[in-house]
Amino acid sequence: MTDRLIKAGCFLVVVAVITTPGCSPEELHRLLLVSFDGFRWDYLKRVPTPNFDALMEEGVRVQQVENTYITKTFPNHYTMVTGLHAESHGIVANEMYDPDLNLTFSMDRMDTYDPRWWDEGVPLWVTNQRAGHRSGAAMWPGSDVEIHQMYPTHYLPYNASVSFQDRVQKLIDWFTQERPINLGVLYWEEPDESGHRLGPDSPLMNEVIADIDGKLGFLLEQLKKAGIYDEVNLVVTSDHGMAQLSTDRIIELDKYVSSNLYTWIDKSPVVAILPKEGKYDEVYKALANANSSMTVYKKEDIPDHYHYKHNDRIMPIIIEAKEGWTIMQNKNGTFMLGNHGYDNTLPSMHPVFVARGPALRRGYSKASMHSVDLYPLMCHILAVPPAPNNGTLGSVRDLLKESAPPTAAPPTPARGESTYAPVLGSLLGAALVVGFLFVFVKQVTRKQLPSLPIGNLEIAQPLLQEEL
Ligand SMILES: *[C@@H]1O[C@H](CO)[C@@H](O)[C@H](O)[C@H]1NC(C)=O
Ligand SMILES: *[C@@H]1O[C@H](CO)[C@@H](O)[C@H](O)[C@H]1NC(C)=O
Ligand SMILES: *[C@@H]1O[C@H](CO)[C@@H](O)[C@H](O)[C@H]1NC(C)=O
Ligand SMILES: *[C@@H]1O[C@H](CO)[C@@H](O)[C@H](O)[C@H]1NC(C)=O
Ligand SMILES: *[C@@H]1O[C@H](CO)[C@@H](O)[C@H](O)[C@H]1NC(C)=O
Ligand SMILES: [Zn+2]
Repeated sequence: MTDRLIKAGCFLVVVAVITTPGCSPEELHRLLLVSFDGFRWDYLKRVPTPNFDALMEEGVRVQQVENTYITKTFPNHYTMVTGLHAESHGIVANEMYDPDLNLTFSMDRMDTYDPRWWDEGVPLWVTNQRAGHRSGAAMWPGSDVEIHQMYPTHYLPYNASVSFQDRVQKLIDWFTQERPINLGVLYWEEPDESGHRLGPDSPLMNEVIADIDGKLGFLLEQLKKAGIYDEVNLVVTSDHGMAQLSTDRIIELDKYVSSNLYTWIDKSPVVAILPKEGKYDEVYKALANANSSMTVYKKEDIPDHYHYKHNDRIMPIIIEAKEGWTIMQNKNGTFMLGNHGYDNTLPSMHPVFVARGPALRRGYSKASMHSVDLYPLMCHILAVPPAPNNGTLGSVRDLLKESAPPTAAPPTPARGESTYAPVLGSLLGAALVVGFLFVFVKQVTRKQLPSLPIGNLEIAQPLLQEEL
């Protein structure tokens, strides 16, 4: 009798957990995350961008997204899908050295495939698949690497020659096939490449920006054609902005210290320096006050707000150029007219952010957010439990339709609020059921209670004590 009641109780708990919002059909929780590399937030002001405008009108826009330091491609793409700062997800630069592994990582040489570089973070597609769903990835950095023994359900091996149209087509296929994905991620190399080559201030950038708007238009059209435009939550953003450089603003390190004394690990504008054995003091002293257009940090003195310290892949000396400056060893290196990587509080480093879909508000504009908050937001939309991260759902909850004020302004949740609200909700629901049941059980089995096996009472005991 008691056994059966307890079994019934467990069953009800399971039902309560299953029927809470976290587990609704996945068609209701579809998401496509798109990154146009190096699309600075204010590019939208340069030329007419009707497709971005349409998304903003029907969805949300965030004016200033503070991305993570260093404001480079690989660190920020991994931050978007993990909610972790670079020091915590381990992809601390595009060019890295890991002293424990004695291994180098290089975006330039496409030497990025060792899972050990990536395993410090849990990317969104892994989060999604661990929750039993399916994901598709078109060229997103890291999405063709086996991370935590897993690839995205569908992915394209990185190949810059595959057209935007082909990438979109793949995603549409995956979203509409018999066992569809609920999560897609899409990466496109422009306008970053042109920004580096031309410099963001060049008038020639205008047509590059217009072209991206056209590509976005193609994507919207394909989603409409496939009949999923109103069902997919679409987030269009980027990894970073771009700053204008000049040959008048070049610092040559060879002028200050011999290149024989150190290894040059990562390049401008945040140069990572690994001094040769026993040469640390000499290198640091030579550079520390060498030129006011660069800041030289000992690793332990890197400002806390960068969240860029606690990782062995961050080198002992980091040199940060002032905005618009280039650091080279000498003028034999390659010079670019545009670059990024600088201080993440600079507006020039900030990416665009617009989003639209059934989970999102319409015509809503928000002043700022942190890019680490995107991951808990996406997990919430997908209804999957987020891995530990540095973001705060409460900081971006106002982007969600569910938070739209019915009458008065919504309460603004404080930063630091738990990102586990849905999980907490389920647990509370379950706890209520347990509480109820055990009160019931206790009433029914009052006389037999002393003979109940202790193990069965473990969970219920604190509740019984509180409630009765
Ligand atoms: C690190 O690897 C390089 C080859 O890539 C090798 O020459 C060197 O000896 C290794 N260093 C250590 C400390 O194992
Ligand atoms: C990359 O994509 C292009 C265009 O689709 C194709 O022609 C080429 O064979 C691909 N390269 C590799 C290595 O797969
Ligand atoms: C910093 O370097 C630039 C470029 O070489 C030079 O023009 C400038 O004078 C230097 N500043 C100082 C304080 O040395
Ligand atoms: C630059 O390159 C030229 C030609 O390769 C070489 O002669 C010169 O020594 C180099 N200068 C420096 C500062 O490395
Ligand atoms: C970021 O999150 C990771 C994982 O939870 C944690 O280890 C790290 O301390 C967090 N960093 C900050 C600055 O809170
Ligand atoms: Zn980039």
